[in-house]
Amino acid sequence: MHKVILLSALCPGLPLGVSEVSGIPYEVLLLPPGKDLLERVNSLPGPAKLETIAIVTLLTDLLESEQIVQLKDQLPKLRLLANYAVGYNNIDIKFAQKAGILVSNTPRVLGDATADLTFTLMLMVARRAWPGALQIHQTGSFPGWTPTYGLGTDLRGKTLGIVGLGDIGLRVSRRAFAFGMKVVALNSLQDKSPTQPPYKCQEFVIERLSEQDFFQRVDVLSLHCPLTSDSRGWLNDARISSLKHGAIVINTARGDLVDERALADALKREQLFGAGLDVFCGEPVLSEVLRGVPNLVVLPHLGSATVETREAMGTLVLKNIHALISGCISLPTQVLSS
Ligand code: GLV
Ligand code: GLV
Repeated sequence: MHKVILLSALCPGLPLGVSEVSGIPYEVLLLPPGKDLLERVNSLPGPAKLETIAIVTLLTDLLESEQIVQLKDQLPKLRLLANYAVGYNNIDIKFAQKAGILVSNTPRVLGDATADLTFTLMLMVARRAWPGALQIHQTGSFPGWTPTYGLGTDLRGKTLGIVGLGDIGLRVSRRAFAFGMKVVALNSLQDKSPTQPPYKCQEFVIERLSEQDFFQRVDVLSLHCPLTSDSRGWLNDARISSLKHGAIVINTARGDLVDERALADALKREQLFGAGLDVFCGEPVLSEVLRGVPNLVVLPHLGSATVETREAMGTLVLKNIHALISGCISLPTQVLSS
């Protein structure tokens, strides 16, 4: 039997069936549907399990040490977990590495789509587009144009604060400059490293600030950092309270970066102007504390959800799989544990 690649779900850009690379044939198989990855792998016929070298995992597939041990038991030749996502908080990278399993992700190809969606949320919140659209959707009308109906706030002249100035943070910054915003970035999540020099983005400059200066300056805070044990719950009550009155919070990274109760409280007491979330804790079910909260826009994790981007993600996953099959020493977008 050929080398086998298992897909957790159909992914654009990843064709099923037999293909080959460097003269080596391999077969891409779709796992049966279900919630639990291990159970789904378990239900495969023996020969397929024996020849599986890689699994294309989703961000909803949880692979802690326990699951990795069991997967290794089931799939003795497993060498790669290719996550169809840029974030990889669903996988215990250190443990996988120790178990001799490589991990790859899909950085950069989804940067523009995610940056676009960040601005979708920012504009929806700043311009109160969501309550207005909802009203027309539900009732077929709105109170009518008046000088004071639906007043939002301009982005022009505001300061965007980026938490996590990586590929996505930079792409968001470029868009922010086009909207006439200033951009600052948080120097480091733990505020320990010495202040770094400003980052030049085209003719623009992104100042890197200490946490204290950052919170004093930003009008719109946007999260673009990975979820780790250090960043979990980072945007907590104390930090939300130290934001300017009337600030906006945007999260297109991971829901667990934010203390949702603290966010709901700040929105209800109008300390914040609004918030836009593309991700939230316990997806796909929004927590009770965030339901019906004023000027909160929640989207169903659409950051990379365009046809072009999902195809590019599939193509990048395939490149990693091809590198593995061809025996390359390192993969194009391999994740290394720090
Ligand atoms: C989406 O959330 C991703 O990490 O790619
Ligand atoms: C608004 O529609 C305007 O014409 O100012």
